[in-house]
Amino acid sequence: MKAKEIREKFIDFYKKRDHVFIPPAPLIPEQDSTLLFVNSGMFPLVPYLLGEEHPEGKRLVNFQKCFRSDDIEEIGDMRHTTLFEMLGNWSLGDYFKEEQIPWVFDFFVDEIGLDPKKIYISVYRGDKEIGIEKDSKAAQIWKDVFEKRGIASKEVDFAQEKGMQEGRIFYYSKDNWWSRSGPPESMPLQEPGGPDSEIFYDLGESLGHHKKSQWKNEPCHVNCDCGRFIEIGNSVFIQFIKTENGFEKLPKKNVDFGGGLERIAMISQGKTSIFETDLFLPIIRKIEEISSFKYRENVQSFEVIADHVKAATFIIGDEKGVSPSNKQQGYFVRRLLRRSMRHGRILNIDSKMWIKDVAREVIEIYKDVYPEIEKNKDFVYEMLEKEENAFNKMLEKGIKEFEKIENKEISGKKASFLYQTYGFPLELIEEMAKERGQKVDKEGFYEEMEKHKKLSRDLSAGVFKSGLADESENTVKYHTATHLLLAALREILGETVVQKGSNINRERLRFDFSFERKLSKEEISQVEEKVNDMIKKDLVVSKEEMDTKKALESGVVASFEEKYPSRVLVYTISDKDGNVFSREICSGPHVEKTSLLGKLIIKKEESSSSGVRRIKAILK
Ligand code: SER
Repeated sequence: MKAKEIREKFIDFYKKRDHVFIPPAPLIPEQDSTLLFVNSGMFPLVPYLLGEEHPEGKRLVNFQKCFRSDDIEEIGDMRHTTLFEMLGNWSLGDYFKEEQIPWVFDFFVDEIGLDPKKIYISVYRGDKEIGIEKDSKAAQIWKDVFEKRGIASKEVDFAQEKGMQEGRIFYYSKDNWWSRSGPPESMPLQEPGGPDSEIFYDLGESLGHHKKSQWKNEPCHVNCDCGRFIEIGNSVFIQFIKTENGFEKLPKKNVDFGGGLERIAMISQGKTSIFETDLFLPIIRKIEEISSFKYRENVQSFEVIADHVKAATFIIGDEKGVSPSNKQQGYFVRRLLRRSMRHGRILNIDSKMWIKDVAREVIEIYKDVYPEIEKNKDFVYEMLEKEENAFNKMLEKGIKEFEKIENKEISGKKASFLYQTYGFPLELIEEMAKERGQKVDKEGFYEEMEKHKKLSRDLSAGVFKSGLADESENTVKYHTATHLLLAALREILGETVVQKGSNINRERLRFDFSFERKLSKEEISQVEEKVNDMIKKDLVVSKEEMDTKKALESGVVASFEEKYPSRVLVYTISDKDGNVFSREICSGPHVEKTSLLGKLIIKKEESSSSGVRRIKAILK
């Protein structure tokens, strides 16, 4: 079955059971979150799992793009990716285990056609320390389900030590607890979670562990990583919340199911690697075409490239897309791309610019399901090229430098040098070191980085201030528009107006400023008009580096909440005769002349917090 058909079958199956389809959420979280990426279908549903009413009701179904950076090291085992799709269904305080468990089974067996004898189950063993009991109820329901089909369904425990023991249903502890942030002890307060029940598929002994020496002294069981069993889905019974007093019951019991689309497709398509399914094959073929290897000749490098370029394409092309940078989500994009480029060299990819060719295949596969990556493709290609160009220049030099190191251990200083000078992420340094039988002094690396951070704090103070989501052309236009907006506000409302915050992306600007009351309609149109006048005048934007004290004395606009370094950049917007309209301390970037901006339209003026107003505006 093609992935598309599996997606559709899943949605239909649950629609028939009164579920409402909810569209997938952006990869970059909508709400503030301690996690940088949406890592599961349930992520955007947290408020509803905690008890809020969902506008679409109590039964929901969808598919969701997810990114898990912690799986980055696992790539290369034919079944892990950082970017994957999750099929999900939820009960928000509605049905529970009795319905969910038979549905999961029926879906896999009757709709997808999996062999029920090859399905194995795990359930929660319970944990006295946190006061949560063994999930015998789930085990009993599973038993009934198997027995109805005439399949033996023995329950066993301690499989880690004792092996399969001819069991069908297995008890585990931590492996059978799920929350967005992992097992009970790593959950932050107010995080929901619960015991879960995982479904595994037996790929056959020949695929598994007996061949692999690292497991030869351990018994095989469903949760061992030898490769024989693969997890294809997981029902979490979300009914607890972590509080200062331990785990407390949520007002309602929820079900949160997630199934891995790539893995289900792999089994359905009779493959042993998810990279050979229709969700990956065109990407793999493309890499074969531009390199001098076949996939099976270097599984790891192929999978790293296929996965990483796919993930970078999705993150940059997300509804809330981000570009490569040294911070937050942008750092992951950079890391994914740099690692791909290095593996590209291992595969002898000749072309200097090839990432885009791989990304094009990704967009082709997914454009109907995730139209945003097609819509944002120009931005994606622009960012990929920029990153590839910059890193290409450094990679060669960096590798030469690397090869000069003969010590068994790469010192913190050396690692930090490779990072600062050639842009090698620590993970890349570690990987290269490992290939050459070397170790990296990580502690030393972090110490060096700390020292460096202190030195360059000046720089980053500037970078943060502008609040830009990326440095694409459109975003930069909005940035310049923000300066004009502040100048107009100060002219019309008075010089007490200062900037309180700014958040800019390719689609709009959001600007916070100090002012005590709501602006009148008239004031809003005056501000708008003023900005558009300045745009029409085709003012010129120039920058200069200045001594901070001098700059402040000369009356440039600054945000006083910020600590400035001793020297700063000052951006001036003026006409040809030298009349100044705006002059601000800012780290840029900006457009060269204001006529590029088009027309500013203020969409909204509202309160942001006490004494602070917020304007949202777009350029047309
Ligand atoms: N949230 C659960 C998981 O990620 C099930 O959807 O496994």
